[in-house]
Amino acid sequence: MLPKAAEPSPRPDPAALLAWYDRHRRDLPWRSPPGQQADPYRVWLSEIMLQQTTVATVAPYFDRFVARFPEIRALAAASLDEVLHLWQGLGYYARARNLNACARAVVERHGGRFPDDPAALRALPGIGDYTAAAIAAIAFDRPVAAVDGNVERVVARLFAVRDKLPAAKPRLKTLAATLVPERRAGDFAQALMELGAVLCTPRRPRCVLCPWRGDCLATALGIAEELPAQADKPERPLRHGVAFWLARADGAVLLRRRPERGLLGGMIELPSTDWREAPWTESEAIGAAPAATAWRALPGTVQHGFTHFRLEMTLLAGTTAESIAGIWATPGDFKDYALPTLTKKLIKSALSAAPKP
Ligand code: ADE
Repeated sequence: MLPKAAEPSPRPDPAALLAWYDRHRRDLPWRSPPGQQADPYRVWLSEIMLQQTTVATVAPYFDRFVARFPEIRALAAASLDEVLHLWQGLGYYARARNLNACARAVVERHGGRFPDDPAALRALPGIGDYTAAAIAAIAFDRPVAAVDGNVERVVARLFAVRDKLPAAKPRLKTLAATLVPERRAGDFAQALMELGAVLCTPRRPRCVLCPWRGDCLATALGIAEELPAQADKPERPLRHGVAFWLARADGAVLLRRRPERGLLGGMIELPSTDWREAPWTESEAIGAAPAATAWRALPGTVQHGFTHFRLEMTLLAGTTAESIAGIWATPGDFKDYALPTLTKKLIKSALSAAPKP
């Protein structure tokens, strides 16, 4: 391997990447037609949705959101319930709460128009460094680097940065900033993301098609596929919980709303025990049940992955004739509620095991 000092500094030409982007850019619902300024509202909405989520998953959600809320004032006026309902299935629900809060802040603080400055954008709810830079570049052509995971990979390879992520992030950001051209900064930001998404992929990068193949140090060194290096991630711990399927004679099932703050905040779920590292015994779980009834264990387990832990749940089913406070809904009406994916999995499992009401 060459010592670091001997490595030439790559000089990738932004014009070569922009020319490639002009020919190969994907037609995505939030992108403005070539040469036209993008709508900041659509750029912001798409960037929030695209955090931790793929383009293919986001596209139909984006279309539904802009059909229901064509501009920011409509979103600012919506209830959190309605926003969560449209968001269900996209995950990371704090984003949906911040979406609502951010729309209101833009209306209240900025008269309904997004600011064009990264620092002012950064001060809005749910907008971090990356999203502020992406909006400033894509919607306002500000020459700033928007560095997401795709761009980190491209830059790590271009400059053969062998330091491990996440420690390498500041260095990759500094290097990315050296690439940004004064003109067409918005197209350039999207072109870099596009390059990472379609050619400079984590595995089997298609270097022969890359407009910067002659400038890429990792390609010259034959180490493109090994970069960026990742620090070992600790294994996510496994937690256990028991959910309760409590049905009334009329077929309605008890649901509850989660607290506004925290994981899956404000969403609707089946009542359950806490989620903890030690598995629950049936009698322990019954101690946390929403009613005193003859609980019966349903077969099978439901697995779900969250960012910081994995969850394994089992179900107890029972019936009640008492009037218990909470949200009562029949399975046919569950579609009217903002249910997280975990709850949908539990419902599916319960319906396939429990006798139909
Ligand atoms: N990922 C994040 N932002 C994106 C964008 N604007 N286009 C495509 N993929 C993206």
